[in-house]
Amino acid sequence: MAVGKFRYKIPFWLVLLSPFLLCLISFQLYYSAKSNENFTVTFLVHKFELPNSVDHKKPISFLRNFLGKQATPNITRNKSTEIDHHFGSCFGQYIYVHDLPSQFNEDLLKNCHNLEKWKDMCGYLSNNGFGTKLEDENSKRVLMENGWFLTHQYSSDVIFHERMKRYKCLTNDSSMASAIFVPFYAGLDIGQHLWGSNISTRDSSARKLVDWLSGKPEWKTMWGRDHFFVGGRVAWDLRRKTDEEADWGSKLMFLPESRNMTLLTMEASLWNNDKAIPFPTHFHPSEENQVLVWEKRMRKRKRKYLFSFAGAPRPKSGFSIRSELIKECESSLELCKFMPCGGSNRCDEPANVIGLYQESIFCLEPVGDSATRRSTFDSILAGCIPVFFHPGTAYSQYLWHLPKNYLKYSVYIPENDIRRKRVKVSERLLGISKDEAMAMREEVIKLIPSVIYGDWRSNMERTFDDAFDIAVKGLLERVEKVRKMMKEGMDLSEYYAEEYDWKF
Ligand SMILES: *[C@@H]1O[C@H](CO)[C@@H](O)[C@H](O)[C@H]1NC(C)=O
Ligand SMILES: *[C@@H]1O[C@H](CO)[C@@H](O)[C@H](O)[C@H]1NC(C)=O
Ligand SMILES: *[C@@H]1O[C@H](CO)[C@@H](O)[C@H](O)[C@H]1NC(C)=O
Ligand SMILES: *[C@@H]1O[C@H](CO)[C@@H](O)[C@H](O)[C@H]1NC(C)=O
Ligand SMILES: *[C@@H]1O[C@H](CO)[C@@H](O)[C@H](O)[C@H]1NC(C)=O
Repeated sequence: MAVGKFRYKIPFWLVLLSPFLLCLISFQLYYSAKSNENFTVTFLVHKFELPNSVDHKKPISFLRNFLGKQATPNITRNKSTEIDHHFGSCFGQYIYVHDLPSQFNEDLLKNCHNLEKWKDMCGYLSNNGFGTKLEDENSKRVLMENGWFLTHQYSSDVIFHERMKRYKCLTNDSSMASAIFVPFYAGLDIGQHLWGSNISTRDSSARKLVDWLSGKPEWKTMWGRDHFFVGGRVAWDLRRKTDEEADWGSKLMFLPESRNMTLLTMEASLWNNDKAIPFPTHFHPSEENQVLVWEKRMRKRKRKYLFSFAGAPRPKSGFSIRSELIKECESSLELCKFMPCGGSNRCDEPANVIGLYQESIFCLEPVGDSATRRSTFDSILAGCIPVFFHPGTAYSQYLWHLPKNYLKYSVYIPENDIRRKRVKVSERLLGISKDEAMAMREEVIKLIPSVIYGDWRSNMERTFDDAFDIAVKGLLERVEKVRKMMKEGMDLSEYYAEEYDWKF
């Protein structure tokens, strides 16, 4: 799973050579599981009535009815539902942050040269986890002069912690707190050991952490049900089911204490105490106005490609549709642009990817080694309408951050329709009228504030919630519901168990 995220990070030949890849790909059980033609998919907690694969007209006319002609250019949010960032009461929003021993967070940053096998992470983890500030020549044309950083996709452990340090409703009195934040850098920690370490090394911090937590007085209040932490990789990296050395990842989320906690992660597994939050993009504005300027620019962009794809094929995976998509893209050059990733590593440059997405009306987001991609959020940021091929790429993941009426902001083409050559991407996308595409783009642009992690200067008035605010709000609501259920002695499995009834 984790390997998927390396398409931006390691040369592609290395991926090809990696003997791990094959076993990892087969490890992707939920994606490689038998494909079923009728696409009513149940994935994680929510049920998705996906459009019948060949019935294109339905979602589009649905869209037309729903949107009409109007498109609202401003960020329009219902303010009464938002966190009042500065003046409101903190009632029900207090968070207590555990003062963990530094081995669980700061020491990892000190060891930044050795955190990743293929990359020195020190630059990436600077600037509160945002990474080195981008000041390249391209910035003025493609990006913006301010607010852009060379952000690593697995930096959320640090980004989230740094934001939490400035959260407005922190408390030192844990008895007042609605939730307990555990600033363990779970993603960075396991990232050091995913390749070549034995299982006792991989599990070492996890075991120490839960020992430490369960010995604290805060534990007994709710037996950890109010505790949460961030694992800025995919949840599968922290969910090793067996004690076989060849099995992937750490056992963190299967330790008895962790089963009571909530994990915020880039890609949730089938367990209900994993909650997916957006991958960090490269844009971390310090002022709200930068977002408005950016949105305006994305509305005005001339988009010369109908669709584009930035990524690498997965030649070893019999299930990957990437080669099909690349083939189609390369055979319709006037409609599509393909940017190969790996090798020369062009995708490592944010300006390259964002630049391409700004020139495209639709961006293809096929599954890689795991279901999710950071590219989904790059696409939203660039006002490019994402095209998904699997519900696990976004719809069943980012339930707090992306709206449920997903056909308003994205296109869905079931993977099987590509595999069986029932649908050509170009034909499907050409069937969407200009007006419809514009309305969809407007919806995409309206999502931008919700998927960025801002670099907000303290005490600045803000009219919208960003990805961090939304995650905290979602978490607090979750804990509140669990608290109520515990009081009433109800069964909590809806919030913690594995979701079994998914099918593909
Ligand atoms: C958008 O916002 C600007 C500035 O706040 C305002 O002047 C304008 O009327 C708004 N437009 C719409 C359509 O709400
Ligand atoms: C804002 O949200 C509240 C509560 O959900 C709702 O009652 C109200 O009608 C909404 N206002 C607008 C303008 O949508
Ligand atoms: C909590 O205590 C620390 C150390 O005494 C102090 O620096 C910090 O400001 C306090 N935070 C809050 C939210 O009271
Ligand atoms: C696991 O690896 C560590 C570090 O290389 C080593 O010290 C330890 O003895 C190994 N444990 C087992 C059970 O092999
Ligand atoms: C997990 O929570 C339940 C209550 O919901 C509690 O009985 C159990 O002891 C907790 N597990 C641990 C390891 O604390």
